[in-house]
Amino acid sequence: MQSRIRELKSKKNAVILAHSYQLPEIYDVADAVADSFELAVAAQKTKAAIIVFAGVHFMAESAKLLNPKKKVLLPDREAGCFLADCVTVEKLREKKKARPEAGVVAYVNSTAAVKAESDACCTSANAIEICRKLPQKQIIFVPDGNLGEWVGENLPEKEIITWPGSCYVHARISEEKVLAAQKLHPEAKILVHPESPKKIRALADLVAGTGGMSKFVKNSAAKEFLIGTESGMLEKLRRENFIPAEAGTRKKFFALAGECINMKKITLEKVLNSLKNEEFEIKVDAKTAAAARHSLQKMIDLSTTTAL
Ligand code: 13P
Ligand code: SF4
Repeated sequence: MQSRIRELKSKKNAVILAHSYQLPEIYDVADAVADSFELAVAAQKTKAAIIVFAGVHFMAESAKLLNPKKKVLLPDREAGCFLADCVTVEKLREKKKARPEAGVVAYVNSTAAVKAESDACCTSANAIEICRKLPQKQIIFVPDGNLGEWVGENLPEKEIITWPGSCYVHARISEEKVLAAQKLHPEAKILVHPESPKKIRALADLVAGTGGMSKFVKNSAAKEFLIGTESGMLEKLRRENFIPAEAGTRKKFFALAGECINMKKITLEKVLNSLKNEEFEIKVDAKTAAAARHSLQKMIDLSTTTAL
């Protein structure tokens, strides 16, 4: 399947962009494996005619928004994001009405329609920076409540109005589990995603998105790491830090969180079918797309985070 995928990629001038939570066999055929911010930038830069997005719907939709003329495919149309479903346009409009003085920042884990209602988007890699750079003192932050709370902790000069949304993969990381893992690996550094609850973030050596975790591990002298994000990330960290000559002393990673059922819907077979049948194409109506693109582009313009 992998060789057939590679053949089709070159025949059709396609690229495969894969999120770090994808399966190892998908990493092998991907042109980039990265966090959601880096993938959005990669999607904007590619010269390929077709983008197959190995990830979830909002990521493929963001790639389409940034590339309106390109064909963007999601190999499984059911690969959604439960967090993105936590906010609707109607509810957001109600909140905007109640707080007209506030700006709106939409985490990229949201629909195009919600992005279209926002002043700017952000990812976990740049959420603090984007909220700091918006002129408003009050910011309605949707949909992740934990990420919004973390931004607020880091920006005391702003009022971050959080939303009651969460990601089940991160919300379920238990304090007992982290403490038990720490007991087993007392020298290990604890890295957690800002979508994690406050009591988990309080135990961490680093709170960062998946791209930030990669950078931290590369530069760290520690040998063991407890990883508080979707467990697919361990494969990325293992590959990035595998030095054959140091096999006996290589860095070790232990999972604190489980799998995202939606990320794991993407299989090699579905990627092959996606390329073969050019399915399932992402479409966004022109009016929503124009406003949502504006919010995404604002994030890219304001962000100093380095991508890929
Ligand atoms: P990153 O932005 O860190 O890649 O995370 C995306 C995501 O879906 C987290 O659950
Ligand atoms: Fe959405 Fe959570 Fe899955 Fe990320 S891990 S795609 S936030 S459900």
